[in-house]
Amino acid sequence: MVTLRPLTLDDAPAVQRICCGASVRYAHGYDFTPEQARATIGRIINLTPATGWGFGIDAAGDLVGLIKARRRTPATAAVSYILRDDTWGNGYATAAVRQLTPILFAAGVNVIEAKHHPDNPASGRVLANAGFIRIGSADFADSTGAVVAYTMYELRRRERPRTATCWSPHSAATPDSSGSWPTTRTNRWGHPPTGE
Ligand SMILES: CC(C)(COP(=O)(O)OP(=O)(O)OC[C@H]1O[C@@H](n2cnc3c(N)ncnc32)[C@H](O)[C@@H]1OP(=O)(O)O)[C@@H](O)C(=O)NCCC(=O)NCCS
Repeated sequence: MVTLRPLTLDDAPAVQRICCGASVRYAHGYDFTPEQARATIGRIINLTPATGWGFGIDAAGDLVGLIKARRRTPATAAVSYILRDDTWGNGYATAAVRQLTPILFAAGVNVIEAKHHPDNPASGRVLANAGFIRIGSADFADSTGAVVAYTMYELRRRERPRTATCWSPHSAATPDSSGSWPTTRTNRWGHPPTGE
């Protein structure tokens, strides 16, 4: 299985190998130079929770990919990922997305957005398997400059179950002299609601 870990500049050769060939076709569209690999690592290292998150995807000590999330607004973030082409099909991207999403929700993000190129259905499978919902499509320029309809996804933070506002047969409440039930909010055990 994979773990997410911080990057260092020593990862530059591995990042250059990740960001090349088939892996960049639906991303930025060109093979990274060593300088571009270092610059990307530098940008990821400089992310803070106010701006985003970025990790290396590590499989048994092998850096096999990158995963990032950009904070678009205080409550929304956009996730993206890239895996080295010789590691595809092992579930690594799905596992990485599943590990990143709780980190974002814990940081106050309510909605995580993602998109993929229409000719890249594997990325859609990654998102669906990680619980994302397809919400439609939107036009973006791809790496060739062509404007195409990207498939859009989102994952929303689950609401905590809310305490019911109701009378319970187990409640200590009783009708008053006029026959009206008290309006005090109680949970299903008849206790005052907490934690809301
Ligand atoms: C898309 C990408 C991240 C997938 O990484 P991965 O580690 O191989 O992903 P996983 O193994 O976790 O899952 C791949 C899923 O896609 C499916 N898949 C693979 N090729 C497919 C294809 N041509 N058509 C449809 N589904 C495909 C796999 O069967 C699997 O789904 P399943 O588990 O339901 O069977 C990887 O191919 C990649 O880095 N591509 C280049 C960069 C990119 O496209 N990033 C996404 C843009 S944000």
